[in-house]
Amino acid sequence: MKLKQQINQVIKEAFIKAGIEHEPMSVSEATKPEFGDYQFNGAMALSKQLRKNPREIANDILSNLDLTGVLAKAEIAGPGFINLWLNHEWLASQCESARSDSRLGVQKRETPIKVVVDYSGPNMAKQMHVGHLRSTIIGDTLANLLTYLGDEVIRQNHIGDWGTQFGMLIAYLEEMHEDGSGSLKDLEQFYKDAKGRFDEDENFANKAREYVVKIQSGDAHCLTLWQKFIDISLGHCEEVYDKLGVNLTRDDVRAESFYNDDLASVISDLNSKGLLTQSDGAQCVFLEGDEVPVIVQKGDGGYLYATTDLAALRFRAQSLGAKRISYVVDARQGGHFKQVFNVAKEAGFVGPDVHLEHIAFGTMMGQDGKPFKTREGGTVKLIELLDEAVIKAKGTIKDKASYSDEEIEALAKIIGIGAVKYADLAINRESNYIFNWDKMLSFEGNTSLYMQYAYARIQSIFRKYDGPLEGSIVIGDALEHRLSTMLLRFEDVLN
Ligand code: ARG
Repeated sequence: MKLKQQINQVIKEAFIKAGIEHEPMSVSEATKPEFGDYQFNGAMALSKQLRKNPREIANDILSNLDLTGVLAKAEIAGPGFINLWLNHEWLASQCESARSDSRLGVQKRETPIKVVVDYSGPNMAKQMHVGHLRSTIIGDTLANLLTYLGDEVIRQNHIGDWGTQFGMLIAYLEEMHEDGSGSLKDLEQFYKDAKGRFDEDENFANKAREYVVKIQSGDAHCLTLWQKFIDISLGHCEEVYDKLGVNLTRDDVRAESFYNDDLASVISDLNSKGLLTQSDGAQCVFLEGDEVPVIVQKGDGGYLYATTDLAALRFRAQSLGAKRISYVVDARQGGHFKQVFNVAKEAGFVGPDVHLEHIAFGTMMGQDGKPFKTREGGTVKLIELLDEAVIKAKGTIKDKASYSDEEIEALAKIIGIGAVKYADLAINRESNYIFNWDKMLSFEGNTSLYMQYAYARIQSIFRKYDGPLEGSIVIGDALEHRLSTMLLRFEDVLN
């Protein structure tokens, strides 16, 4: 149910009756219980247009306000605010209809759109790091939410599977006569070892460079090795997805390499639009107001991260037909996306009706306020972080004796993984936050455990009651009034 919209409708009717020929602004949630449930603050804004004192306007609205349906009471406050109280009976009837609806009264969008949500995007040569964890959790939630609201969501996992480092990794894979299963178990170590070989042995380094050229020119043997490497790396990521319970599959992977064949035409399109400038041998796009240009091709002919993103934008808008494209990526890439979005619009890769947005999130910090690292200063392996969450969650289960080992195992997963996901979603998305196990796994405050515990207790009440739920919802006091208003805000909150 769109709660606000229904209240706005009542205000609109009062406007018509009062002869005010303006569109009323929307009501807002009251900030304190003594201000009612909602507030209408539009009288002040109309004062100039109507050449009337705002309190007088508020009075006109008030005397035409229907207080027999949605609203029970309205009061003028301050310079011309109108405080609004919802009607108990009306709230009760709305709760009834939400209760009998499997979607809890949440309507699907009247005009659904195609949305691309770009999230996770790990880099194949390296371990997934905590930035990818945040992207995966927030992105998956956003995709689920938009799907629920009725949009056609296309998940895109823009994995980093291309670049010069793969020459080195493949050379090493071959040197190890790897079938892929052995030392690739620990990607971090494999990468370090390969890098070590690259730095110490000139022959190896040359071979690695040769391989870069070979992969890029489509050499079958090198591509097979490369594919094997990607498969295994992606398998590691999928273990993380699986533990997190996110809805990302192989079908959602549209890797950087997918756009290889489009890159030359990105450059020629930019050129024919007159957007390219040569600078130190590189091809650049200078946009008004930007200090640094977007480099789209290096002097040696190589393409960059931005070039691939331009190709991806064009593909998403033109081939996938997306009308909204959301990038769930670390805030530190804000400058990159701003520029890439501008270039894509300028070049006509993306029409003016396509909404592009960077859903930025802050950095996860350690207790010391610095970016999250292990005690030894290395990057935290996500899989280990999630396993630790499950182990720590076992500590929160109080009466272990009343559960079997399997039950404890299952509960610990629900509690531990839930805590990691909820901690990420409950905070302000854009600010940095300090990772803290104790806070995350606390029964107090805005935590998953608090909610899971409340849920379990409610379930226990129903179990003990063990009868049919009869009768209708009656709102008897102020707390029930507030609770039902909160519940009915669900759709407004989702939107
Ligand atoms: N692989 C990138 C990184 O780790 C993230 C990709 C985000 N998506 C995009 N279309 N650029 O930084």
